[in-house]
Amino acid sequence: PVTTNHDDHGRIRVGGVALDDIADQYGTPTYVLDEDDVRHRCHAYRTAFPDAEIAYAAKALMIRAVAGWVTSEGLSLDACSEGELALAQAAGIDPRRIILHGNAKTATLLRTAVDVGVGRIVVDSHTEIRLLASLAQGRQKVLIRATPGIAIHGHPALATGVDDQKFGFPIAEGHLDSAVRLVLEQSNLELVGLHCHLGSQITDSRFFAAAIDRMIGQMDQIRRDHGVLVSNLDLGGGHAVPYRPGDPELDPAALARVVEAALDDACARNRFPRPTVTLEPGRAIVARAGVTLYRVVSIKTVRDGRTFVAVDGGMSDNPRVALYGARYDVAVANRHPAGAHTPMTVVGRHCEAGDVLAHDVPLPCDLHPGDVLAVPCTGAYHHSLASTYNCIGRPPVVAVRGGTARELIRRETTADLLTRDVGL
Ligand code: LLP
Repeated sequence: PVTTNHDDHGRIRVGGVALDDIADQYGTPTYVLDEDDVRHRCHAYRTAFPDAEIAYAAKALMIRAVAGWVTSEGLSLDACSEGELALAQAAGIDPRRIILHGNAKTATLLRTAVDVGVGRIVVDSHTEIRLLASLAQGRQKVLIRATPGIAIHGHPALATGVDDQKFGFPIAEGHLDSAVRLVLEQSNLELVGLHCHLGSQITDSRFFAAAIDRMIGQMDQIRRDHGVLVSNLDLGGGHAVPYRPGDPELDPAALARVVEAALDDACARNRFPRPTVTLEPGRAIVARAGVTLYRVVSIKTVRDGRTFVAVDGGMSDNPRVALYGARYDVAVANRHPAGAHTPMTVVGRHCEAGDVLAHDVPLPCDLHPGDVLAVPCTGAYHHSLASTYNCIGRPPVVAVRGGTARELIRRETTADLLTRDVGL
């Protein structure tokens, strides 16, 4: 996080609070969240894109306080479930600033969205378009999710811009056009724009330039075929963050330059009026603000000299290593790590060999049980992907700012787990 420093004893502080003090007070594992870092990222987007709408993708981390921080920094919100809508409402967010997503929106979800007064709904199937038309009150603004056929070089589970996956209407073979026709036939739906989301951890802004080129082409096609001018181009999210020092990232200012140039070019070529651009970063807003704290439980060296450091969390609080082969750094948070370092593999407490948090990371040879380990860049898709595997309750989220810590989400207790077990 932006506020990280070390005190005289080598303890890591974030937001002016020593991480081992948080570990003592709230236990471990615990997600720590630096409010200033989140606000700083929002500000960087707003500065880089003064004319665009920045909609925070709530799926990365949805907590009332976080929703409040990002909207107070001028962002809108991308939501995709009844739960996210309920939290947005509880945070007091203006529903007109909410964009609803999802490839399988049920009647209940659509009805909830209409009741809440969600500003825009991004439709993703013919069935959904008909269903929404039957439920909409007044005139509901919609975007159509298009698949521009752009393959980013990322993990296949996270590539959403290509045609052969579940999201959106491919531009190819007239799929998008059939959705446009169907929406335009519905008197209570207002087509305001197109949406696309290319995937995750995109480091090269040229993919967005390519998307702009194709999407403006489609918006122009809609104008020519149907005489309808749509004015909102939503380019989704997927902006990369550096999980480890030296990893590439997509800087908002650099992205803004490429987006501006691509828009100028595509609009001039098609003589198309400039649309309002929406971007939906999730990870880029909250990932770097998060640090997960663990306590070392045991250390053992096995054949071939590999050292395993077992901690009190694992794949239930961070499944990203097992799911996507994600790589993290690990730091000792409670003291100066004395002397030599050697590669160690940090593993969790779950009953699977794949329960690894970090492969072969340098850790001090004098590491011992009780030390506090900090894993940075765990603010996005950690709390939101957490599970209760092995009946282990999910960790709390503790926000830090200006030297004080406050709990945003409390730890899930064994009593919580028992409460849901209602049969016998
Ligand atoms: N907009 C839409 C429509 C999306 O589906 C997503 C992410 C975003 C925006 C935000 O993407 P971001 O800027 O955060 O990359 N669990 C995976 C990430 C899945 C992302 C799904 N959609 C992970 O941990 O990497």
